[in-house]
Amino acid sequence: MESLKGLILSGGKGTRLRPITHTSAKQLVPVANKPVLFYGIEAMAEAGIEQVGIIIAPETGPEIEAAAGDGSRFGVRITYIVQDEPAGLAHAVLTAEPFLGESPFVMYLGDNLLQGGISDLVSAFREHGPDALILLTPVPDPQNYGVAELTKTAAGEVGRVVRLVEKPKEPATDLALVGVYMFTAAIHDAARAIEPSPRGELEITDAIQHLVDNQMRVEPHVVRGWWKDTGRLQDMLEANRLILDNLIERVEGELIDSQVDGRVVIEPGARLERTAVRGPAIIGAGARLTDCYIGPYTAIGEGCAISNAEVEHSILLAGCTVSDLAGRMESSLLGRNVTVRRGERQPRAYRFMVGDNSDISIL
Ligand code: DAU
Repeated sequence: MESLKGLILSGGKGTRLRPITHTSAKQLVPVANKPVLFYGIEAMAEAGIEQVGIIIAPETGPEIEAAAGDGSRFGVRITYIVQDEPAGLAHAVLTAEPFLGESPFVMYLGDNLLQGGISDLVSAFREHGPDALILLTPVPDPQNYGVAELTKTAAGEVGRVVRLVEKPKEPATDLALVGVYMFTAAIHDAARAIEPSPRGELEITDAIQHLVDNQMRVEPHVVRGWWKDTGRLQDMLEANRLILDNLIERVEGELIDSQVDGRVVIEPGARLERTAVRGPAIIGAGARLTDCYIGPYTAIGEGCAISNAEVEHSILLAGCTVSDLAGRMESSLLGRNVTVRRGERQPRAYRFMVGDNSDISIL
């Protein structure tokens, strides 16, 4: 078999995480203080893949290039491939054809997170030699995903793929397509053969259905660990929770009259004063925390300054300032350099300066 390549899709628009992604790529939003995209690159490196192509959009591409670089720090070689418009996942594959050539490849959606990496799948793909291998997992809201229908088999066995439908209004099963796929070069002709979907995209789901319809072997695997598409706020917070759950304790910053419980990472240069951190939580490099309580499942970005506040189950991107909050901040995602503070002037009133499409809940 020709050597396996990797393709990570980090183009697209990212409308669902606006306003965070108005100005930056959704694949760079951090989970446990590391961009989502890096988990995908690391999974490829771990599976022994050396050449990784990353699909980027003209608007957010430069930012992604600046973040991931040439890939050497992950142990891979990255080639950036510009997709002029987000015309669909199968369109992205066609855009990458010159890079992929005849090689089989792993395709990984840049906003997806899959527990346990991809090494086992790569081995199964090599061993069984199907034309494509797809991953499935039961979800409570299948209408938001590509959905698979399989043949019925004895209990406990996975059947053959009968039908794949993108975001069906009435899903036939609860088996969602996970955003990690393995393909042979046969996918290129399939992507060329299909028409745009009602949402105007060349769907990878339709291209795989085309393989099925042409008697090619599409092997389904049901994933055992967890999987998250981090496209929405709740999923992002959930992914943050799942990753933080496996954190390995490490305290390198400075603790002054402060207490740290459970799985907590305090990065170098962070300074905590009269602060309690209850893990799992991560405090980024250079953060300043004074008179705070940081609760479980919280990721505080680099250089944040928090004082006199309680924060729990939240993600704060780099450079945020939070101070003097009357209540606890919970289940929140703050973009870069956001300030949240209690006003000093009377009359006591809420005073905001927020970007387009922000979402604020107050009591
Ligand atoms: O997350 C799993 C789901 O991903 C699957 O169940 C669906 O079958 C599949 O179509 C896909 O659905 P989404 O609607 O969630 O895909 P999204 O538009 O979020 O794009 C996924 C990633 O691919 C994201 O990182 C952006 C990138 N992308 C997307 C498009 C449409 C591109 O690079 N180019 C594109 O043209």
